[in-house]
Amino acid sequence: MLYMAHYRQIQNKIQQEIDGVVDASRSVTVDDRRTSDLSSDSNWSLNEAVCREIQRCANASPFGISHSNPQETTLMGYRTPKRCVIMANYLAVNRDPKLWKDPMAFRPELFLDQKGKVFEPPHFMPFSIGKRASAGEVLARMEIFLFFANVLQRFDVCPPQDLPLSWVDSYETGIACRPKH
Ligand code: HEM
Repeated sequence: MLYMAHYRQIQNKIQQEIDGVVDASRSVTVDDRRTSDLSSDSNWSLNEAVCREIQRCANASPFGISHSNPQETTLMGYRTPKRCVIMANYLAVNRDPKLWKDPMAFRPELFLDQKGKVFEPPHFMPFSIGKRASAGEVLARMEIFLFFANVLQRFDVCPPQDLPLSWVDSYETGIACRPKH
């Protein structure tokens, strides 16, 4: 919501996309998204790209869940004694200029190919990767889509009139990042 309050033009384009797919008399449903498989001719390219770009920029889960190694191991030349606390730095991946062009900017086009279809590079990993990746990924992706599309179908998200809008890159950080009040 905070990103949409900041980027009103993008919000307007998303609303146009929603109105072009779903009649205003009803809500957006799970069935509407079924056609939006990444490889198919999605009707939801901008919605899907913006949701991914918000996940990249907002870093909701900057370090995932702590893990530990039961045995001593060596990774890329670094010896790791057994029972270390090991955390992945997703925040660094999301802001790596070697992986993303202009990583500090909000650029939904990072997730669109030249034909305007949704494209997901392998270094996009908000749900982590491998065996311990989020068990809720499929559910969460669906919920993000439904929440986002349905709110924007019905509402305009605007900055408050009497208060400054907190900036999108100033977080309260903990296990999860959230915007300042
Ligand atoms: C936007 C929403 C979500 C994000 C960004 C997210 C992200 C993550 C991340 C980064 C991890 C850590 C993976 C690792 O340590 O390598 C994780 C673990 C996990 N998530 Fe999520 N998650 C989300 C929603 C959900 C939902 C909706 C559920 C369940 C209904 C869920 C269930 C789990 C579980 C069970 C684990 C532990 C997996 C394991 O250790 O095997 N997550 N999540």
